Amino acid sequence: MAGRVEGKVAFITGAARGQGRSHAIRLAEEGADIIAIDLLEEIPGAPYGPATRQDLDETVRAVEALDRRIIASKADVRDYEGLKAVLDAGVAELGRLDIVAANAGISTQMAPSEELDEAIWHDMIDTNLTGVWHTAKAAIPHIKAGGRGGSLVLTSSATGLQAYPNVAHYVSAKHGVVGLMRTLALELAPDMIRVNSLHPTQVDTPMIMNEPTFRLFLPGVEHPTVEDFEPASQAMNALPIPWVEPVDISNALLFLASDEARYVTGVALPIDAGAVVK
Ligand SMILES: NC(=O)c1ccc[n+]([C@@H]2O[C@H](COP(=O)([O-])OP(=O)(O)OC[C@H]3O[C@@H](n4cnc5c(N)ncnc54)[C@H](O)[C@@H]3O)[C@@H](O)[C@H]2O)c1
Repeated sequence: MAGRVEGKVAFITGAARGQGRSHAIRLAEEGADIIAIDLLEEIPGAPYGPATRQDLDETVRAVEALDRRIIASKADVRDYEGLKAVLDAGVAELGRLDIVAANAGISTQMAPSEELDEAIWHDMIDTNLTGVWHTAKAAIPHIKAGGRGGSLVLTSSATGLQAYPNVAHYVSAKHGVVGLMRTLALELAPDMIRVNSLHPTQVDTPMIMNEPTFRLFLPGVEHPTVEDFEPASQAMNALPIPWVEPVDISNALLFLASDEARYVTGVALPIDAGAVVK
């Protein structure tokens, strides 16, 4: 049976681990070839370790085990020219581009707005907002050139629809992604290129599974553990679960990327266990 994105090519940023790796595997399972990039560097101010070359190699291994092709490179979404160069090379090799998962993102210092460091603020906007625009800007000419339409899926967050204290830089960037998504949806509709955004609640990835992030949810606890974090995280969701898994986000991406969503554009889709309506 043909897969849901059979014969298509997907560009995925932040693909070394977490949701990005899950996206690569899920799309490959349904027949897509993959162009993957990741920073593979320390992120200043991040309370968690960087993705590594070994992580990206593991994504490659998993996609190749599904008999799909993958071209994986080190690139930085903040660097438009570098990003464009690796995407251009990937499309030259795989022959087309249909799907974009603008997934790369960071989580850094957590503090009241007046205490946020200037450099940390700018780096957040450069990565989580400008990086998404760079990804779209580099990809759009390739999708248009195919003349078959396509699907851009921008990763925002529940924090892109609702405010939370002590992460103004993250909340601002993720809200900005919604404005970008809606604008692109209008601009690209004549070419049958659809643009939507994903809004996850907490996802079980290295970005949140660390003590400083647990402390954001449990400010009174000095060394919170994952067991302490679980009920606090669950309290944010309407459904009685503490977090979702990367594949839950990948399944939403797959739907939006597939022809099943052929007339869905301009939509901000929460995969949030009801966090935003709570
Ligand atoms: N984990 C959560 O709870 C959660 C919730 C809502 C939204 N998100 C968003 O989901 C996306 C994926 O995050 P994740 O949970 O998989 O975390 P993660 O840290 O496991 O993965 C993010 C990946 O992006 C890469 N990256 C960071 N900066 C980059 C840059 N400048 N250029 C290229 N790659 C870069 C990292 O190296 C890493 O591999 C992010 O946009 C994040 O903000 C995460």
